Amino acid sequence: MAWNTILTAVSLGLGLVRTTQAQSTAFTDAKSGIQFQQVAKGGFTFGIALPEKPTGDFIGRLVGTGAKGWSGVSLGGPMAKSLMVIAWPNGKNVVASLRDSVGYQMPTPSANTTMSLRPIAAGTSADGTTWTYTFLCKGCIQTDTSTFKADDTTPNLGYGLTSTAVTKPSDPESAIPFHASGYGLFPIDLTKARSSKFATWAATAGAADKPAGATPPPKAPTTPAAVSNSTWDYIVVGTGPAGLITATRLAETGKSVLLVERGGPSTAATGGKNWVSWNKTLTYYDVPGTFIPMPFATLGEGFCTDTAGLSGCILGGGGTMNGMAFIRPPSWDFDTRWPTGWKSKDMAKPAARLYERNPGTTAPSKDGKWYDADIYDVLEQFFKSNGWNEADSMKTPDDKNHTYGRPALNIHNGMRGGPLVTYLPLVQKKDNFKLLLQSKVIRVTRNGSKMTGVEIENAKGTRELHNLKAGGSVVLSAGVMSTPRILWRSGIGLPEQINAVKTGRIPVQLPDEKDWIKSPVGMEVMDHSRYMLTFNVAKGVKAYSNFNMAFPAAEVKTQYQQGIGALTQSFMRMDIFKRVVTKAGQSVFYQAHCAVPLLDAGNQIEFTFLMTHGQTSKGQLSINAFGNTFFKTQPWLQTDHDKEAMTLALDDLFNMTRKEGSRLSYSAGKDSTAQTVLKTPVQQGVHFIGGAKMGPDDGTKGGTAVVDLKTKVYGTDNLYVTDASFHPDLPTGNTQAIIMIAAEEATARIIAQTKGK
Ligand SMILES: Cc1cc2nc3c(=O)[nH]c(=O)nc-3n(C[C@H](O)[C@H](O)[C@H](O)COP(=O)(O)OP(=O)(O)OC[C@H]3O[C@@H](n4cnc5c(N)ncnc54)[C@H](O)[C@@H]3O)c2cc1C
Ligand SMILES: *[C@@H]1O[C@H](CO)[C@@H](O)[C@H](O)[C@H]1NC(C)=O
Ligand SMILES: *[C@@H]1O[C@H](CO)[C@@H](O)[C@H](O)[C@H]1NC(C)=O
Ligand SMILES: *[C@@H]1O[C@H](CO)[C@@H](O)[C@H](O)[C@H]1NC(C)=O
Ligand SMILES: *[C@@H]1O[C@H](CO)[C@@H](O)[C@H](O)[C@H]1NC(C)=O
Ligand SMILES: *[C@@H]1O[C@H](CO)[C@@H](O)[C@H](O)[C@H]1NC(C)=O
Ligand SMILES: *[C@@H]1O[C@H](CO)[C@@H](O)[C@H](O)[C@H]1NC(C)=O
Repeated sequence: MAWNTILTAVSLGLGLVRTTQAQSTAFTDAKSGIQFQQVAKGGFTFGIALPEKPTGDFIGRLVGTGAKGWSGVSLGGPMAKSLMVIAWPNGKNVVASLRDSVGYQMPTPSANTTMSLRPIAAGTSADGTTWTYTFLCKGCIQTDTSTFKADDTTPNLGYGLTSTAVTKPSDPESAIPFHASGYGLFPIDLTKARSSKFATWAATAGAADKPAGATPPPKAPTTPAAVSNSTWDYIVVGTGPAGLITATRLAETGKSVLLVERGGPSTAATGGKNWVSWNKTLTYYDVPGTFIPMPFATLGEGFCTDTAGLSGCILGGGGTMNGMAFIRPPSWDFDTRWPTGWKSKDMAKPAARLYERNPGTTAPSKDGKWYDADIYDVLEQFFKSNGWNEADSMKTPDDKNHTYGRPALNIHNGMRGGPLVTYLPLVQKKDNFKLLLQSKVIRVTRNGSKMTGVEIENAKGTRELHNLKAGGSVVLSAGVMSTPRILWRSGIGLPEQINAVKTGRIPVQLPDEKDWIKSPVGMEVMDHSRYMLTFNVAKGVKAYSNFNMAFPAAEVKTQYQQGIGALTQSFMRMDIFKRVVTKAGQSVFYQAHCAVPLLDAGNQIEFTFLMTHGQTSKGQLSINAFGNTFFKTQPWLQTDHDKEAMTLALDDLFNMTRKEGSRLSYSAGKDSTAQTVLKTPVQQGVHFIGGAKMGPDDGTKGGTAVVDLKTKVYGTDNLYVTDASFHPDLPTGNTQAIIMIAAEEATARIIAQTKGK
């Protein structure tokens, strides 16, 4: 695999979208006689024909190779929500479907029955070597951002393909694997795709394929699942940073703990097999310096395919595949909006307990030096000349107004750290503890307000029940993208989502409607808003990287065996923080991870730029018929207040680059303003919180909170939440450190509440 392909794929995976310059050309299909504008690249071929006067219809042509695998076109390009046409060969036939892609997840069949795919037989064939699907897409062109517009001229469309077989080739609704053979964007010239013959061609289309989403839902199984013979004092769901801390602390009390994780092993020590190319005892998850190539090298193994935003579905959760930033929370992260008893003074003790086991570091290389870090000096000069100060974010977490420093990282002895390394091993061998991998919790079983256990689906796709002992409790730590789904499937949430579960395709045995617990689950999800900003560095100033993260030089690998060098570090070389104050008088923070950009050979520095604490936008999570979570309302830059804060922050940065003698200038033009950036789509920060918010106002009685101040789900006797879902506010830095602290405290409260039981 070419280095560039890896980088392109990875940068797309992280949302750093870049288009290529591939041009579309005219192509006439001899078999159907239809004239297309066509793009062919890296095994992907797509042609399009349009009527002279724009309507909602187009004719498309997808071509693929081989007897299996899929190829697809995303009609909305890079947008978070996009309509796709996906097709694959099935013997001598081609099977196709319209699908909704919602962020980084497997696209599911579109439920919009107004649109249809109508195959054009003359241009459709499969012979085991190549396949072609020619179709009229009727009513497909939308007016929102999910597709190009009917009168667009040269939109960017997206593509994806793989040679791996789909799960059930005869079924248009089949699950499909990751687009491992490539994905990206391509511009296509629609002005040359228009033809007066369109109506004639369209008339050759057959009847609509079975409308997507038309199959009736399967009935929930009435026969009880297999029942495990072991019972537990605690069942903890999910092994992210929160779940691991919760399960470890609970097991340390001596009571019995079952920890259930839907994903498989990850790091080498846990049995993971995604080894780096140069050492069969280290995985991409272990070596900090391989963070950037990891998602592609592992074919996205660690990422969930059914969640609204990026999240981890593997042992260790997001902690296994995140960027390792470890920002100790400043006092106001708790003091602004967390409830009484959860203020910074209350959190000093749980923070100390965490840091004792899992301190993080600003010097990941054993010799205390930083490697491949020339840009630190360039940036230091830039920020210093603008009156900023250096600060060590581990020593003085509150020093976050115009400060810069070495990145604080969750790295332990040169390897990725976190509770998978610093907590789990302490209890893993104990008799009262069991870890169950590849076991997806479908729902919590309950009798009224009392939880009795969990129903899981194991690696074979079989359902099993695991029960609590009398007096036992279930703790959900499945992450912001998934904890709400488990609650809905357990009949806890608003009727809209529980009904979506009831009428959906995944069989779930819900409680009787009279036992549904009405609670605002999935509401008030928040996230940092992100833009990737690239700055040019003045000529003569050295700001480039010689470090190849996928194929490190022999010397760098040798250094790594001694615990030193660039592979002991994550991708960022400097972190910066500042606050801006909006007209409303509210402080809003911005943060950036500064690094040499992935696709750059010249003198450039890229900022992963995040608006963080102080933002007010709230998103709403929901669940579709296929069981995927999606954003009904997106959580980024929804309010004027947040747009104002983003504008202030970007202009603040741009103004500095325009000063006399500045070594940095914004790559899109020296005179760029915040407005230039705000015209491009805002990206997910991947720092989600909320969805099962903690608060004193009981959401089952008209309030906004899903869990009480002891993290117990309102309306239940023994169900708790300890992952980021319960956080009532966004932190100033990346999420994992505050998640670990909050999980320590939540678990202490669970232990106190369940002591005598
Ligand atoms: C690509 C990426 C980069 C990031 N970079 C950083 C960074 O540099 N620094 C930082 O601080 N934060 C970062 N984050 C965010 C951080 O990783 C998350 O905030 C954190 O992992 C959330 O922890 P959690 O315990 O709440 O949930 P998660 O980490 O999401 O863990 C949830 C766990 O539950 C499991 N699960 C879900 N559903 C079920 C089910 N039904 N049954 C059984 N198990 C289930 C999942 O497989 C997962 O293991 C990043 C996140 C991503 C995705
Ligand atoms: C479904 O598609 C039709 C036809 O393009 C469109 O008018 C309608 O808005 C779509 N419905 C939804 C819910 O997106
Ligand atoms: C539980 O025990 C019974 C009797 O020993 C056995 O038949 C059954 O298979 C066990 N169930 C599971 C899930 O292990
Ligand atoms: C692979 O990595 C392990 C752990 O760091 C190290 O002990 C071993 O020497 C390495 N092997 C090679 C061939 O470099
Ligand atoms: C933050 O920095 C800005 C700009 O240097 C300054 O005007 C402001 O007073 C500072 N705010 C606080 C609370 O320190
Ligand atoms: C459910 O709980 C009630 C008491 O609250 C009890 O009478 C009943 O037997 C329980 N049902 C089951 C199936 O355990
Ligand atoms: C940036 O500079 C412009 C022009 O001097 C000024 O009007 C604006 O207030 C500045 N913005 C910020 C956020 O400093």
